[in-house]
Amino acid sequence: MLIKILGSGAGGGFPQWNCECANCRAVRAGAPGFAARTQSSLAVSADGDNWVLLNASPDLRQQIAASPALAPAGNGAVRGSPIKAVVLTNGDVDHISGLLTLREAQAFSVYAARRVLDVLSGNRIFDILARNLVARVELPLDEKIALTGAGLDLGLSIKAFPVPGKIALYLEDASAPDFGTKEGDTLGLEIIDHKTGRSCFYIPGCSKIDAPLVRRLEGASLVFFDGTLYRENEMIEQGLLGKTGSRMGHINIGGEDGSIAAFKRLGVARKIYVHINNSNPVLNASSKERETARAAGWEIGEDGLEVLL
Ligand code: MLT
Ligand code: MN
Ligand code: ZN
Repeated sequence: MLIKILGSGAGGGFPQWNCECANCRAVRAGAPGFAARTQSSLAVSADGDNWVLLNASPDLRQQIAASPALAPAGNGAVRGSPIKAVVLTNGDVDHISGLLTLREAQAFSVYAARRVLDVLSGNRIFDILARNLVARVELPLDEKIALTGAGLDLGLSIKAFPVPGKIALYLEDASAPDFGTKEGDTLGLEIIDHKTGRSCFYIPGCSKIDAPLVRRLEGASLVFFDGTLYRENEMIEQGLLGKTGSRMGHINIGGEDGSIAAFKRLGVARKIYVHINNSNPVLNASSKERETARAAGWEIGEDGLEVLL
């Protein structure tokens, strides 16, 4: 299985259009040790020919342009794409709005939880993906299903499972408990290669590493995990947004309650942070936080990083 990070940034990307935080200023100025990042998405393929997107970010057009493997195959057909399916982990803007880039009468499949499919059906702009060409498939929870798209077996299966998190920001109901969040609003994905039997995990949003998640991840070969914030309060401290990480549905990397500590005894062979917010000090290659993550065995995801599993 081939995995490519299309976008390692969180919503807004890096730099974010309206942000003048220290990191955004540094990357805009071309300071050494800072790399720009597009918004949150991975591409996965069993054979290198047909690809599955894990989330579809607002930067998808740019990400496709930067990935020769995602260009039309050059097999003589005047229209075509190696992208045969898109799997969504939630209904967040940074994960679904790239679907609109995939207009132009091309067949593929969209896999998502029922409530995310309801968001797509509830907004007619997504009908630009013609129903007779773009299949919308409900992801069952905790059940492995084989991925297909444009009539092809893609050689991969997905097992989607609920993780602690939060309903999409624009769907929040201030009067409901947990803002109206229900089980399945935030999914983790295990992607399994049929031929090799190898699998990896993709969890770009997660507010807590609870006992069921620990059991799933123990001994995993490869995990792409929520690296949104380093500290629970960093957005407040930098004057960016008056919200903590937990209020946004994201666990922090550092500290006793963070993901570095939670992964310490999981025996995961390779672990890579993705969905990294522009406020996160790990974006600075010479920061002490980057060094702490590296010393704990973590990689900081970068756009274009490819992994062969
Ligand atoms: C998130 O990851 O928390 C969301 O993408 C937030 C947002 O919609 O801005
Ligand atoms: Mn996000
Ligand atoms: Zn910023």
